[in-house]
Parts: sequence; C-alpha cells; structure tokens
Amino acid sequence: MKRSTKEYIKAKMKQDLSLKNLYLDIQKDLDEVEEELKLFSHSSNKLISEISTYLFQKAGKRIRPALLLLCTKLFGYKGKEHILMSTLVETIHTASLIHDDIIDNSDVRRGRESVHAKWGPNVTVLLGDYLYIKTFGLSLQSKHREITQILTDVSSKMIEGELNEYYISGNLDIKEKDYLDIINKKTAALFSASCRIGGILGNAPKKEEDFLAEFGTNLGMSFQIIDDLLDYTGDEKTLGKPVLSDLNEGRITLPLIYTLNNDGKANRNRITNLLRKKNLEKNYKEEILDIIKSNGALDYTYKKAKEFSLKSKEIINQLPKSSHRNALFLLSEFILDRNK
Ligand code: IPE
Ligand code: IPE
Ligand code: MG
Ligand code: MG
Repeated sequence: MKRSTKEYIKAKMKQDLSLKNLYLDIQKDLDEVEEELKLFSHSSNKLISEISTYLFQKAGKRIRPALLLLCTKLFGYKGKEHILMSTLVETIHTASLIHDDIIDNSDVRRGRESVHAKWGPNVTVLLGDYLYIKTFGLSLQSKHREITQILTDVSSKMIEGELNEYYISGNLDIKEKDYLDIINKKTAALFSASCRIGGILGNAPKKEEDFLAEFGTNLGMSFQIIDDLLDYTGDEKTLGKPVLSDLNEGRITLPLIYTLNNDGKANRNRITNLLRKKNLEKNYKEEILDIIKSNGALDYTYKKAKEFSLKSKEIINQLPKSSHRNALFLLSEFILDRNK
C-alpha cells in the first residue's frame, strides 16, 4: 500500500510517529528482511543455529535496514539486492550489539537476557565474529563491489569507536569533541553507510549519494545522543535495556560532560568523588542524576540532538520530493522524540 504525502503530513499532525506508520511503504520489504535474517539460523552448527534463532526472533527497531530501503526507493530502485543489503546492515548492527553488551557488562537486551548472559562471553565473541565474516562474504553477491568496501570500512570504524570509548572510560577530562568523535564512529557511521548503500543501489548521482550519507551521519549522531539521554531519563521496561548503566562503566556521555564543564565546583567535586567508587550504588547514581537534572544538562543534551536532527532534515529536503523522503524526514523526528 502506498501512502501519499498528504497522509504522511496527517500522521505527523496527529503526532502519530510510530515506526509502524513510518515503515508502511516498506513493510513488505522489511518482512523479507526478517526472512533473510532467519536464514542465519539455518546452520549445521548447533550453537550458531541456536543463538542466531534467539537473536533474530526478537526484533529491534530495524532502523538501519529501514533507512537503506527508504534511500533505495528515493531513486525508484526496482531490483532485488536491497533485501540482502538491508539484512547485512542489520547483521553488522547485531554483531556490534552482542560484543557491546560484553564490553558494557550489560545482561539485558531487547527485554531479555543478552547473548553473553545466556551463553557466556567466549561463545558470544565468536558468534559476533561469525556474523561479521558471513556478512562480508554475502555482500560479495552484490553487483556493486564498493558495497563490500563500505561494509568493512564501517565495521572497522565502529570497532575503533568502541575501543576509543572503552579506553577513555572514567576519564573526567573528556571533551565534547572527543565524545562526538566516538559516537560518530561507533553509531553514526553505520547510519551513514546504510543510507549511502541505498543511494548506490538506487543509482543515485554521486552528489545525492553523498547527501544521503551526510543525512545518515546527522541522524546517527542525533540517535546516539538520545540513546545516552535515555540512559538517564528512560524507562528500563520500555527501552528493553538497563538504565543509569553508562555510569557503571565510567562512560562519560554528554549530560555528564556538560555537568563537569558547567556546574559549580561543589557538584563537580561530588561527582568526581562518586565516580571514583567501584560498583556505584543506586542511591549514588540517583544523586548524580539529580545534579544533572538541576543544572540544565538534560536540556542541553536534547538541544544538541535536535541540532543534528534539524541538519539531517535540512539535507533530506534537498533530495527529490516523495513519500519516501517524507518518511525519512519523519524518521528523524521519531528518533529525536523516541522513548525506546
Ligand atoms: C542500540 O541501537 C545501539 C545504539 C547504537 C545506541 P538500537 O536502539 O537501534 O537497537 P535495536 O536494534 O532497536 O535493539
Ligand atoms: C553502543 O552504544 C553502540 C554500538 C555501536 C554497539 P551503547 O553502549 O550506548 O548502546 P546500548 O545503550 O548498549 O544499546
Ligand atoms: Mg552498550
Ligand atoms: Mg546506550
């Protein structure tokens, strides 16, 4: 079913920014992506099939494949490759998540036990590696050889981002610029690559392909800043992952960076002392949250995410008008105001 621009605007007026609504035009393709993801479970290796089944039966938001599909359709793509390529950006995302949960010591993902909590870190590392390698191999099926290069480049960039973040953990001197560089690498790069691949499949002119990549970068930056905000303000059940958890691991994200640079000496010292503790107890985390709430850090963080979101909308509006362009525009609004 195809929706007109008018209907999208109506949905927006009603603030009906559910993913179900935004995905309406691509739902059929997304269903095919789900089927393709399930193929990872068809392995003669028992552990691979068992864990892949577990991994792909509970869907996440599927934002990266949706971006790729919508970008492909912006240019009237009619082929079949978009299904596999959308599947592959999701498998890279999935591999990065199961590794990330080990690094972050996080036992819950998508509302249930994370893979390492269930199968242990050793198996999880190997399964993540397996997903990456399979992905690169499958990408060679594309007529567009540069896609494999994009997927390998983005994966190494994401690992670099995760490494930098891990390395700088607990360092209260981290600057906003360092933080932005980390989230660009670990998150925005895959958003950008998904959009660029959509453009390549759709045979977009080089200039438009670059616009799509730039759109994806800004969207991804806004996405990760909101993720970091939700770690302070979100609801664990809705998010399906722990909250106030970045503090556990000494992850100094934007709300805390703002606080450390802008709050008074007393609060700065208090936070510095609290963060020296290992296994920060809940009441101390809440004390930090109260400080962050009182000094405008949450508003500042949202404002920053909004700047990237606005930039993404400015970029997408330079591309040819269509219902798919509208969906991308509204996806940017969804990402900014999401609660999961
Ligand atoms: C979580 O991504 C990892 C980040 C980059 C913050 P998503 O929030 O897209 O995860 P799922 O796929 O919907 O679970
Ligand atoms: C990880 O960021 C992003 C990846 C690229 C894996 P986070 O550590 O903030 O993601 P969540 O909060 O665990 O989903
Ligand atoms: Mg994490
Ligand atoms: Mg997070």
